Amino acid sequence: MNIGIDKIGFAAPSYVLDLADLALARQIDPNKFKIGLLQSEMAVAPITQDIVTLGAQAAAAILSEDDKAAIDMVIVGTESSIDQSKAAAVFIHQLLDIQPFARSIEIKEACYGATAGLSLAKSHIAQFPNSKVLVIASDIAKYGIASGGEPTQGAGAVAMLVSAEPRIMVLNNDNVCQTRDIMDFWRPNYDKYPRVDGKFSTEQYTDCLTTTFDYYVKQTGKSLADFAAMCLHIPFSKQGLKGLQAICQNDEKTLSRLTERFHEAIVYNQVVGNIYTGSIFLSLLSLLENSQTLKAGDSVLFYSYGSGAVCEIFSGTLVEGYHKQLVENRLDQLKERKRLSVAEYEAIFFEEIALDEAGNAIDLPADDCPFALQQVDQHKRIYRKN
Ligand code: CAA
Repeated sequence: MNIGIDKIGFAAPSYVLDLADLALARQIDPNKFKIGLLQSEMAVAPITQDIVTLGAQAAAAILSEDDKAAIDMVIVGTESSIDQSKAAAVFIHQLLDIQPFARSIEIKEACYGATAGLSLAKSHIAQFPNSKVLVIASDIAKYGIASGGEPTQGAGAVAMLVSAEPRIMVLNNDNVCQTRDIMDFWRPNYDKYPRVDGKFSTEQYTDCLTTTFDYYVKQTGKSLADFAAMCLHIPFSKQGLKGLQAICQNDEKTLSRLTERFHEAIVYNQVVGNIYTGSIFLSLLSLLENSQTLKAGDSVLFYSYGSGAVCEIFSGTLVEGYHKQLVENRLDQLKERKRLSVAEYEAIFFEEIALDEAGNAIDLPADDCPFALQQVDQHKRIYRKN
């Protein structure tokens, strides 16, 4: 039985910051962000939009009523959770009116969580071929004003419907993982923003990639010649390019072929920024919607990396007619986001929900997004769908 991605959707918050404006405000050469990091814009979320609303919006864009009746598991991968106990998937399950007899959970391992969710979904479908699993990667990446990671911030969610006989991509059974106990990026419970050893994290990203790929080759007998494209975790686009260069080593022909596809695979990431768990899947969406050369039967190699660190290499093969499941004007949709000034972005960055003594939100602004946080009532988050 073939199991894989049947549908894929994406949602970004309503605001965007041009990194050229940020560079100007921070007195940095704009080319450092544009050429040095290969990033041009970053998505910014107001306090009324969080991983629940973004995840629900990404999934609502792809689900039919039949899907909602068949889904019996909802998995959210995130590292910007809204609650220490309750899973974001439970809120999303309700907001989307998914049938009640479902399992809803949240998975955490930095930017890797949703990839683990995809594997869990695959195993579930293998056992219950008639069911469908909704896997959502939803994150808001905030490093801090004027921090090294600031130009790599972002926000957004990718939703994937996993089923038997999928219409986009069959996931192959060739996954290999690596776990390495390192402190390259982490966030203690008492911290709002992550602590990051930036340079070390970039080295670990690449070393985990090359060592896991060597192991993948040994385990599967496959090589880069078997793949038409590669999608990597994209904390910022230059990091993915460096990863690709590292595994291609001195094979210039393969590097040039895969680099062409890589540039198609970062079109959305460059204007959204890092969405942690979802970055690799946003890159997949970008590749599928922007490549004119990919075709059914082509295989894509994936490298998922979550700091801390856990990584996974796996592959998928495109199904006949996959392009029918995609959107043609996504970049135009992204251009409709409201562009913020740096002052507006900074104000949003520090915005917090003010609570009264009973835990009720005071003056939470109205938000006409498809899904938004409407109220906090005695410390309970209440969401609204339009
Ligand atoms: N014109 C063109 N390029 C320029 C330039 C200019 N004027 N000025 C600098 N550059 C280039 C630099 O040469 C460099 O390119 P190379 O790496 O190819 O040499 C690039 O711009 C970045 O410059 P620096 O290394 O000096 O930048 P920095 O020290 O300010 O920070 C960073 C870089 C450490 C990655 C920082 O952005 C950061 O801490 N980011 C967050 C951590 C991160 O994303 N890590 C990635 C791996 S971990 C992971 O993947 C998990 C995750 O999602 C967090």
